[in-house]
Amino acid sequence: MELYEAINTRRTVREFLDKDVDFDIIQRILKAGNMAPTWNHNRNWSYIVLRTDEEKEYVLESAKKIAKKFDAKKYLNAPRPYPITLAQKMYAYAMPRQYTMLKEAPYVIIPVFKSKELDGKYVSRLNPFSTIWCVIENIFLAATAEGLACSMRIPLNEEHDIVKEKLKVPATYMVPVLIGIGYADPNEEKLEQNVADLGKQLHFGSWK
Ligand SMILES: Cc1cc2nc3c(=O)[nH]c(=O)nc-3n(C[C@H](O)[C@H](O)[C@H](O)COP(=O)(O)O)c2cc1C
Repeated sequence: MELYEAINTRRTVREFLDKDVDFDIIQRILKAGNMAPTWNHNRNWSYIVLRTDEEKEYVLESAKKIAKKFDAKKYLNAPRPYPITLAQKMYAYAMPRQYTMLKEAPYVIIPVFKSKELDGKYVSRLNPFSTIWCVIENIFLAATAEGLACSMRIPLNEEHDIVKEKLKVPATYMVPVLIGIGYADPNEEKLEQNVADLGKQLHFGSWK
C-alpha cells in the first residue's frame, strides 16, 4: 500500500473479525515501529505480546471494569449547556468497548518505554514519551499497510500501575498504550469525526 493511502485510510477500530493474524505480519509491523525516530538513539523500548484469552483477561481487568461501569445512555443524555459534540459522541461509543476492542483482537501489543515517570519540567524529559509515540504511529500505519487495523487504550493513572505490575514491567519503564491488532470488522459503525481544516491551521511567518 502506498504511504499516503495508509495515512488516509488508517482509523481506530473497536470491532474485529474472528480471524487470526500471522505472527510474521506482526513482526513486520513491530519492525516498522523500530524504524521510528528516537531521541537518545538507543531504541531501548520493548513490546509485550498478549495472545491467549487468559493473558488478555488478566492484564485487561481494569479496562473491563471501566467499560462495564460506563453508562453510555446516561452520558449521552446528560444535561449540557450546549449541543453534544462529535467528540462526546465518540467517547460514548468508545468507552463501553474499552475491554472488548482489546480482548477480541487476535494480538494485543504493549510497547513499554524507559522512563520512571512523566515529568514535563523540561521538554527533554518528555523525549522518551515523544519517541514511543513515534513508534506507535509507525505501528498503526504499518498495520494499515498490511490490511489490518488497531484499537488503542491509554492506561491512565492507577490503571497504568496495575497493568505495569501485572506485566512485570521493570520499575524504570512505562506503558504508554495497549494496542489491539487484527482484521477490522467492515460492519463496524463509523462515527462522524471532526476534520481538521488546513486552511485555518496554517500561519505564515508567525501566528498573526
Ligand atoms: C493520545 C491518544 C489517546 C487515545 N486514547 C484512546 C483510548 O483510551 N481509548 C480509545 O478507544 N481510543 C483512544 N484514542 C483513539 C481516538 O479516539 C481516535 O484516534 C480519534 O477518535 C480519531 O479517530 P481515528 O483514529 O479513527 O482517526 C486515543 C487516541 C490518541 C491519539
